[in-house]
Parts: sequence; structure tokens; C-alpha cells
Amino acid sequence: MLIKNIVIENSAEITDIRIKDGKFERISKDISPLSGEEVIDCKGCMALPPFVESHVHLDTCLTAGDPCWNLSGTLFEGIECWAKRKEKLSKKDIKERAGKAIRMQASNGVQFVRTHVDVTDPTLIAIEAMLELKQDLKDIVDIQIVAFPQEGIMSYPNGEKLMENAVKMGADCIGAIPHFEFTREYSVESLNFIMKLAEKHNKLVDVHCDEIDDEASRGLETLACRAYEYGMGEMVTASHTTAMHSYNNAYVSKLFRLLKMSKINFVSNPLVNTHLQGRMDTYPKRRGVTRVKELLEAGINVSFGHDDIFDPWYPLGTGNMRDVLHMGLHVCQMMGYEEILNSYKLITHNGAKTLHLSNYGIKEGNPADFIVLNADNFYNALNEKAAVLYSYRKGKLIASETPSIKKVLF
Ligand code: FE2
Repeated sequence: MLIKNIVIENSAEITDIRIKDGKFERISKDISPLSGEEVIDCKGCMALPPFVESHVHLDTCLTAGDPCWNLSGTLFEGIECWAKRKEKLSKKDIKERAGKAIRMQASNGVQFVRTHVDVTDPTLIAIEAMLELKQDLKDIVDIQIVAFPQEGIMSYPNGEKLMENAVKMGADCIGAIPHFEFTREYSVESLNFIMKLAEKHNKLVDVHCDEIDDEASRGLETLACRAYEYGMGEMVTASHTTAMHSYNNAYVSKLFRLLKMSKINFVSNPLVNTHLQGRMDTYPKRRGVTRVKELLEAGINVSFGHDDIFDPWYPLGTGNMRDVLHMGLHVCQMMGYEEILNSYKLITHNGAKTLHLSNYGIKEGNPADFIVLNADNFYNALNEKAAVLYSYRKGKLIASETPSIKKVLF
């Protein structure tokens, strides 16, 4: 197959791509079609590697209002609502909802997903369901599963055992929730426990870390310190870190030395955290999103995640990473021309680094995974909400969109 007249990642030049046996065989200007070869003319539109959803909860998605709405809009009322919804979980229910959300993501150009899956449930039914779904849908999406202890590890009955069992069942990644543990001692103990578990089983780590507006919540320093000591930084991710929004600047400047040394990744979830955080504030109200701009300037890897899709923690969402990016650029004040132009990296390459993906990107020899947006660069694509014209996976079309036609009658 030959893709003609395409712009790759904001490049100033138009080029062609030949795909053979599911891989990018050749990328260069003016490739002539072979006889009988399928040719797609992209007319100067831009290609990107597929979007990476680096933080979502697919086991809870599409449950908002069932059985109750989160009226206060706080993380903690969300956890209470979810505890009630959890009582009627079944494998079929999880697979149907998560499968629907994955198709929504696919229609928005997502092909790689890291999902946190709640393991504070003695039946571990959600992990079982997601492992099956991962297998069922492997041709359209790569799913990475995090064993996520929503109600704590040290603070939940048999929490350590449930984490170990989830890893044995096949979870790719180990989570924690230090700010939700009963005490600071439990918080530190939980991080020590998961780092040992990850080292033993050679697993990735992704912690819900300091997702609270409490400037005293300092799980991050413990996580980064352990990651540094174990030499596992690139395998470790700190998600949310919203308390960093409230840390004093003197502490942050000391902390950044450790963060850089540790080489850990960060995931920020600007849609959900602007909604959940600052709820105990009167005015001024904190934005409650971590210091994305400063982390990036320090050379630390940061990606964006949707986090929740229509569930007890976030009542909206269609799995579209560009909605996440749009919010993130505003709330993090990253609205310079170059910042907007290159912001796609927060939902592509940076996410791929967090997920430890190999062979990701539009390069000769890599799997032919890519999307085509109906715009000539990413600034315009984001601003104009450009359609995802095509999403190809290993050279096979898995989703497409026809741009809508708007009429102004004056
Ligand atoms: Fe989360």
C-alpha cells in the first residue's frame, strides 16, 4: 500500500510512505506506485503515531450515576460511589463497558492504553475481565494492565496478598495509592512493598501518588527515592502528583534534584484533576494539576491521561485524548505557539516512553501504526478539532472518520 502526499509530525515537507507486510517499508518523496498497488492520497494532511492513553480506569468507565451521582465532586465521594457500584460487578459487565470505551478510544485515534484496574476486591474479577479483554482486542489496541489498589494496600484486608495475586494473574504493572493509606507509615510501607514486588517480578510501576490538595502529602519523594535506589526509574511512573501544585517552592526545588536523578515518568490528568481538586478550597481555588511545565523544562518525561471516562470521578468524556490535551494546555499555561504545535508529544511519544513501548513511531522498519488527521499541522488539528481520517494498525485500517460539513447561511 502506498500513502501519498502526507506530512509526518509537523514536518515542513510532504512525503510518501510505502507499507508492506504490516510495516513502514519506505518513507521518501515521490514514490511511484507499483502495478496494482493500493494508493491513498492524503492531500497534505498530517500523520502521527497513534495516540497513547497513558492513564485510564477502564473497569469503572461508563458507570456515572449508577447507582448514585458524585454530588460533591470529590475524589473521596467518588470512591464511596464506586464501592456501591462494585457490589454488582460481573465479568460480563466489565468487559462490555470497557470494550465500548476501547472502541470509543479507537475512533479517536488511540491504539495504546494503560488502564488501572481495581484489585481491592477479594474476587479480583476486574483483573480477570481486563486480562481477557486485552487478549480479545489485541489486534486493535495494546492494553497494559496496572494492579491498582483503590482502597489501599496496607489499609485494606489482605491488600498485599491481592496485589501479589494480581501480578501472578498477569498484570503488567504495579500500582499503589499512598495518599489514601490510613497513615504516613502505611503510605511509606506500601511503596516499599510494591517496589520490592516490581523488582522481584520485573514489572513496571505506576502509582496514584499524592492525588490530594494536601501539601504534606509526600509519597512522591519516597517513590522517586526507591526508584533511584533500585535503578528502576524509567520503569516507574508517578501519576497525578496533584499535591505538588501546593508544595512550597523551596521544597520543590530540592525535590526536583531527586526527580531528575531518579528518571521516573509523570502522568498528569488535567481533565479529571481540575474537576476533582480544590473542592475543599473557598477562594482562591487551587487548580490542583501538577507542575507539568516545570517538569518538562527540567527534562522529565510527562504525558497526559484521560483518567476517567463517564464514571463516579468524572461525569463526562468520550475517550478523546485531544480533549485532555486542550484542557491541559490551558490549565498548565502552555499556550505559546511552539508549545501548542508540539503538544501532541504529550499524548504520543511521551506516553509511549511511560508505557515502555518499543518500535513506536513512523519510521522505516517499525509496525505501520499511524493516524491521519484532517489538518496540515498539529496546531491547526487541535484548534479545528480535525477529524481522525484514518487509524491504521500494522497497515490495516481499524477506524476512519468522514469530516462533517458545516454550513453558514449568511
Ligand atoms: Fe487515576
